[in-house]
Formats: sequence, C-alpha cells, structure tokens
Amino acid sequence: MTTPWNHRCAQRMQSMKGSAIRELLKLTENPDIISFGGGMPAPEVFPVEAFRAAADRVLAKQGKLALQYSATEGYRPLREWIARKMAQYGIESAPENVLITSGSQQALDLLGKVLINPGDLILTEKPTYLGALQAWRAYQAEFATVPIDNNGIQVDLLEEALTSGPKFMYILPNFHNPGGVTLSLERRHKLIEFSDRYGIPIIEDDPYGELRYEGEHIPPLVVLDAERFKNRHGRGVDDNGYFDGIAPTNGNGRAYMRGNVIYLSTFSKTLAPGLRLAWIVAPVEVIHRCTVAKQGMDLHTATMNQLIAHEILTGGEEGDDFLKGHVRLIREVYRERRDTMLDAMERYFPEGVSWTSPTGGLFLWVTLPEFLDSTELLKMAIEHKVAFVPGDAFHPHGDGHNSLRLNFSYCNPEKINTGIQRLGKVIEQAIEEQSAGTPVLHTAF
Ligand SMILES: Cc1ncc(COP(=O)(O)O)c(C=O)c1O
Repeated sequence: MTTPWNHRCAQRMQSMKGSAIRELLKLTENPDIISFGGGMPAPEVFPVEAFRAAADRVLAKQGKLALQYSATEGYRPLREWIARKMAQYGIESAPENVLITSGSQQALDLLGKVLINPGDLILTEKPTYLGALQAWRAYQAEFATVPIDNNGIQVDLLEEALTSGPKFMYILPNFHNPGGVTLSLERRHKLIEFSDRYGIPIIEDDPYGELRYEGEHIPPLVVLDAERFKNRHGRGVDDNGYFDGIAPTNGNGRAYMRGNVIYLSTFSKTLAPGLRLAWIVAPVEVIHRCTVAKQGMDLHTATMNQLIAHEILTGGEEGDDFLKGHVRLIREVYRERRDTMLDAMERYFPEGVSWTSPTGGLFLWVTLPEFLDSTELLKMAIEHKVAFVPGDAFHPHGDGHNSLRLNFSYCNPEKINTGIQRLGKVIEQAIEEQSAGTPVLHTAF
C-alpha cells in the first residue's frame, strides 16, 4: 500500500503553501529576461580570489579542524570578531551573546522555534520581509501589521497594535526589504520607548546596515535600548549599564548584554550569500535557547565556512581592514546601480507611479495606480522579458496588490536601463488597457 502523503503531513503544512509567484519567477531563469526579482548581490563583487587564498591557508594550517564537527554556538574566534565588530556599531556584547547561524534566515527560523506558540501574534511592518513570514507561518503565527512610510514604521499607529498583545515586534530599520526606506532616529527612540512601556521585545533584522550610500549612520535599536536601560535604572548600574551583581559576566570582567532587543545580521550581503553565515546578538538566555534549538536543526553551521570567513576577515594582507575595503567597493557599485535605476524610472515610468529613494541596501518599492494588480502586471512583464516581485507577497494578509519590489544590486547598469524601459512600457500599456476597459488578464500562465 502506498502512503497517502498529503494525509500524513503535519497541520502546520497547511499554512506553508508554495507561492504562485515563485512559480512565475521560475520563468525568470530564462537568461533573456532581465530580473529585478531576486535579492541577489552583484556576482562581479564577490571576492573570489580572497576566498581561494583564505581556503588554501585554512586547509594548510587548520585542515583537520576545518573538516571536523564543531560547537553549536559557532567558531569562538569568529564570535569574538563579531563581538568586536558589534562594539564598533555601539553594541556592547560579549562572545557569549553571539550565536553563529546558517544565514539570518536560520536565525529567523530559530527564533520562531524558540518564541512562537501556535496562534501567537507577531507584529510586523507592512510590507515586511517575505522570508520571516515564511519561517513564522511554519510555527502557526498570526500577524498584526503597522504600515511603513518614507521614515519607516509609523510609530503613531503602533500603540493600538501593541495593546493586542503581540509576542514580539519584527523591525527592519535600515534600507528596508522590500520598502527601501530607513527608520528615522526619532522613530527609533519612540519604538524603544513603546517596547519598554509594553514589555514587548523587538527582533531587529539588519542585513543591509553597512550598505549605506549617503547620509549619516543611525544607531541600531539595540543600542538605543541599552541606553534607555542605563538611564532608567541609573543608580546601582555598572559602567556598561547593567545592574552590579546581577548582570552575569563572562569571566573577563565584561558584562553580558541585557535588554529587549535581539539583533540579527549576516555576511550574505558583505561577503557572499553562498557562505550561509550570519549571527544573532542577544541576551545569553536567548542565545542558550537558540543554541539548543539549533542543535536539533543542523548541529552547527559549517565549520569550514566559519574558518574561511574568519581567515578572510583577519588573515589576509589587509588584516582586519579587508571587510572595510570590500564594503567600500560594494557601496560604490550599488550606489551607481541605484542611481541608474532611479534615473531610468524618472525617464520611463508613466505618471501615476511613485517609488521610494533608498539611501542604501538593495531594493526600492514601487506603488502603481490603485486600479492595477502587480501579479497580473508580472505576467505581462515576463512576456516583455522583465521581472519583479509583486507587492502582496510582502503583506502578511495579502493586500498591497498595486505595489512591487525592484532589486537594483544584481543587474549591471546597462541591463537596469533596458529593464526599466521595458517595465515602463508594460506599466503604460496596462494603464491604457485599464482605462480602455480591457481587463489586464493574460491566459499564457
Ligand atoms: C531582511 C532580511 N532578513 C534576512 C535575510 C536572509 O539573509 P541570509 O542570506 O543571511 O539568510 C534577508 C535576505 O535577503 C533579508 O533581506
């Protein structure tokens, strides 16, 4: 008797349906199609030579270690390097506050496993990162949303949403995916104030923070949270802002971090996504639980990749400066691509279409006239050999039908120009067809 697999699947699979958009986007693998759909870095900037040399050195010096199982928490020297790097961002953490994960995507899944009970409410921005929705739907989460505008999440609408008792908030403060916007300092303070007042923690997801193309760095939420904690508790607090005698230390006299914010970042956009290397910075209680959850998931992140990354970051001719120089190069390349896309949109997009102007990151967000549906538009666009991701995918409740996300990091400037010209024509045609009363419906897909 053959197994009826559909009946054997766990209930959670019902909330994990494959997306029709993914099926459509598979068509964009055709090399004739210019795709602004994926969130991929420019392959031209991958430091292939640095990887080759670092891999050689690792295998020559530490080959046996690199090929062995290793600690779930991650390779200690890499955790130390990350804690030092976080300090440059103003984030006071010890290596014990750092867990290495197999991409930030795994961090999101781990946090879902650790924090979410079926039916728990999660507060997200609208729109938000699709991968987080996918990860947390598997844990049968429900979603409450607060819209973003050009300055990030609209904090004046937050309080009402918080009274519905979400388990945590999920916030993308820098160069939002998919929105392309950045949360203002004023709103960051407000957000931290609300988190503190209602006792609702924040997951701060920051894969793009280093990819700023202009303007000033804005302190992460985790830093503002630590400052608030320090100010609020005032007396009896040590230099790091922790209660003397309460905050555990790591034995080197350095206090572990405490607070309401869990911070995530990744090497995917600054080194290479193929590494699958990222990290969580959080209070030790969170790190311990995520470590236990990770043991059941993959035992540990690939030892070899961790050692190679650490070697690239510290062991080449530029020593600790490698990443700084490499990120400078990425910024130059992406800034040019962003500018090319924005210029082309000005030239080719018809009236009635608006978009965000990101100061960093990989994406921008387009709003079409209300009467257009971007999933229908994608079908037309693919016929005209250009692609994007329709906006409803980033909305937990499936609204946002007249919006879409464009990626500007992957295609070179020439392709960006051609692709935007094609897309401009498609939008123009769709507007005309709608105005003439012809339904924008194509049956080819
Ligand atoms: C907001 C956000 N979080 C997490 C991720 C996942 O990153 P990683 O490659 O580290 O798994 C991405 C990837 O695009 C992202 O945009």
